[in-house]
Formats: sequence, structure tokens, C-alpha cells
Amino acid sequence: MIVISEFMDEDAIRRGLDGFDVLYDPTLVDRPDDLAAALATAEALIVRNRTQVRGALLDAAPQLKVVGRLGVGLDNIDMEACKARGIAVYPASGANDVSVAEYVIATALLLLRGAYGATAAVAAGEWPRNALVGREIAGKRMGLVGYGSIARETARRAIALGMEVAAFDPYLPADHAAWSGPWGKVTALALDDLLATSDVLSLHVPLTAETRHMIGTEALARMKPDAIVINAARGGIVDEAAIAAALTAGRLGGAALDVFEDEPLKAERGGVFAGVPNLVLTPHIAGVTMESNIRVSWVTVDNVRKHLRGE
Ligand SMILES: NC(=O)c1ccc[n+]([C@@H]2O[C@H](COP(=O)([O-])OP(=O)(O)OC[C@H]3O[C@@H](n4cnc5c(N)ncnc54)[C@H](O)[C@@H]3O)[C@@H](O)[C@H]2O)c1
Repeated sequence: MIVISEFMDEDAIRRGLDGFDVLYDPTLVDRPDDLAAALATAEALIVRNRTQVRGALLDAAPQLKVVGRLGVGLDNIDMEACKARGIAVYPASGANDVSVAEYVIATALLLLRGAYGATAAVAAGEWPRNALVGREIAGKRMGLVGYGSIARETARRAIALGMEVAAFDPYLPADHAAWSGPWGKVTALALDDLLATSDVLSLHVPLTAETRHMIGTEALARMKPDAIVINAARGGIVDEAAIAAALTAGRLGGAALDVFEDEPLKAERGGVFAGVPNLVLTPHIAGVTMESNIRVSWVTVDNVRKHLRGE
């Protein structure tokens, strides 16, 4: 039995898992008891980022051999426990890079320009031109924190728009080909220099002890007061309250947050963002588009099928 506890492309299930006994119920993630019952005979589990594959869930799945992750971050999966039990875990690496990169570019353009929130005022006969003179993206510096797979797709698009791109990634060797990738040169900088000089700062690191609250009050104070911060990586890398305070005080030009420390974000915690200007909040959707859902689903069903059949 293959249990799928979150949404995915149904055609990929039908054709990619043909011949298997499949339980596809994207509401299972919110019904832990039913999920545990379904896992009693499951050899495979397919999840996005909400199902917590650890502790009680793993205990409820004695026959589990493989976990397919419809995405890349593995922080909802206890990798040590899976390893100890011989359970293989397959992320869908690369399959949603383009979606996230487009999200970053779109929110950067939107926040720099600042002109797109005027629909109601224009329809009402106001003509607020003076208030809506924004900025171009061309000629600005894109600063990438982490220069892995998604950051490179972002760099390619930023350079095509006339941006200058720099990145902080101490784990990427100085002679790595990506620094002079086919899309153009990306300058390696120390974090402090990147913070001080970026017009758009976009985060593309995993959440680790090192990256938790990497962008908090101190880091924000080092940034240009009209800079834009974009977090489509993981919640907890930015300090949400510090971002809200900086925007409210006019010490930051704008922010787009797709990920949050506690997901789904509850109204109580979201209250910190009430009335905060120049802020775009989205519900962890940067990597999810029609196209990426199909790519991610196919990569995952292929991984799970090959593992179960020993192909
Ligand atoms: N919002 C979404 O929908 C969405 C979708 C996909 C991925 N993501 C997240 O985006 C992030 C990046 O994904 P990716 O596929 O590009 O990962 P990746 O592994 O290809 O790249 C991550 C890079 O970060 C670097 N890094 C690690 N620790 C660092 C540190 N302390 N300082 C600086 N650099 C550091 C690594 O060297 C690596 O080059 C991950 O957090 C992932 O979970 C979010």
C-alpha cells in the first residue's frame, strides 16, 4: 500500500503508480489518527511539507520502506530515525526551483515599484500618481543568502533583468563553476557586506542552528533602509517581529514572506503583521505552481515506484 497524505497531481498517481494499491487522501495530513491507521500496512508514504514524518507516525508504520517528499526541504522528516530503520527518503530536488525563482523576481519587482495596490483608488476617481513613483529593478543589487539550486535560478533571472548579483555561501568553494555560471558573474561576499550593499536580499538557505534568525534586528540595522527582504526558504530564518518592526519604522523598504516559524500561520501570531506597510505574505506557495506540481509529482512517483520495484 502507498499512502499519500497531501495533495499532488492525480494523473501522476494514476499513471506513475499503476498496479499499486494507493490511498490518496490529501486531508489525511489534518487527521493524524486516520493517517496512523492507514499506515499500519503501508510500504510507502508520500508527503509534502506538512506531514511530520517522525515519532508516533513512524511507530504507526512498521512496514514503511520509502518516503517520497513532494518538494525539497526535509525538515518535516526525522532523517536519523528513517536511516536507523532503513527507510529511504527521496526529495524531488530541482523540480520546483523555477517556481520559487519566479516568485522572488515577481515580489522584488512588485515591492520596488510599489504601484500595484492602487486599483480601488483609481476606480474611485482618485489619481494618486505622485504617491506611486516607484523604483526600477535594473541596476539594483540582488543579494542571495545561500547560492544553491534555487538561488542560481534566481540569479539567472535577475541578471537577465539587468541586476548585479552577489551571494553569501561559505560552503560553496571559491572556484565553483556557479560563481561564473553561464548566466553571468555572481560576486561572492561576506554576509555583512551583502547585507550592507543589497537592494533586494533573498534567502535560499536551509533552516539550521546557524541560519535561525539570521535576519533579525541586528542584520536589518546593517541593511539599506529602502532594501527589500524576501524569504521563500524556511520560516525561522528571519525574525518575523523584527521584520514587522523595521517596516513599520520605515527602516526597511519592503518584505515578502512565504514561509513562517509556525505553519500554518495562525491569526494570533499573524497579528504582528497587522497594518504593516509594503509587506507581501503568502501561504508557503512559492514553490507550488501548476507546472511544478506536475514535475514534483512525477519525480516523486518515479522515485517511489523504482524503490519498491527495485528498478
Ligand atoms: N517556499 C517554497 O515553496 C520552497 C520551495 C522549495 C524550496 N524551499 C527552500 O528553499 C531553500 C533553498 O533550497 P535549494 O533547493 O536551493 O537548496 P540547496 O541545497 O540547493 O542550496 C542551499 C545552499 O545554502 C548553502 N548554505 C547552507 N548553510 C548556509 C549558511 N549558514 N550560510 C550561507 N549559505 C548556506 C548551501 O551551501 C547551499 O549552497 C531551502 O530552505 C528549501 O527548503 C522553499
